[in-house]
Amino acid sequence: MRYCYLILLLPYYVLAAEPSQQRQQDLDNMLKHDCGSCHGLPPKGGLGPSLMPEALAGKSDDFLLQTIQQGRPGTAMPPWQNFLNKEETLWLIKLLRQR
Ligand code: HEC
Repeated sequence: MRYCYLILLLPYYVLAAEPSQQRQQDLDNMLKHDCGSCHGLPPKGGLGPSLMPEALAGKSDDFLLQTIQQGRPGTAMPPWQNFLNKEETLWLIKLLRQR
């Protein structure tokens, strides 16, 4: 019986999990090098729009998640879903909102 609870709880922990310390470092580097090449460093805008907290303030996590995962067809914004899973993307959004 006890094992049933473990199995039920597992997806919750997987979803709530933040990327590991090492992965957070990789994501931070990615933001600087990959995203930075279009959005600037700090990401105040370049080819892509500003990703500074004030620019993202009115936009929902879902909307930004969708943009980063799928890209924006017909624009230079590429999809990142092969490189970033949902949790990693949400973590990046949180990071951008805090800077
Ligand atoms: C090749 C250039 C390029 C790269 C690399 C790039 N972007 Fe973009 N991004 C764009 C452009 C251009 C837009 C605006 C698309 C439009 O016109 O709607 C955009 C839009 C966005 C938006 C929506 C902003 C808003 O205000 O609606 C987010 C969020 C975003 N990018 C995040 C990222 C992240 C995170 C990365 C790195 C993982 C990244 N981008 C890498 C070009 C790029």
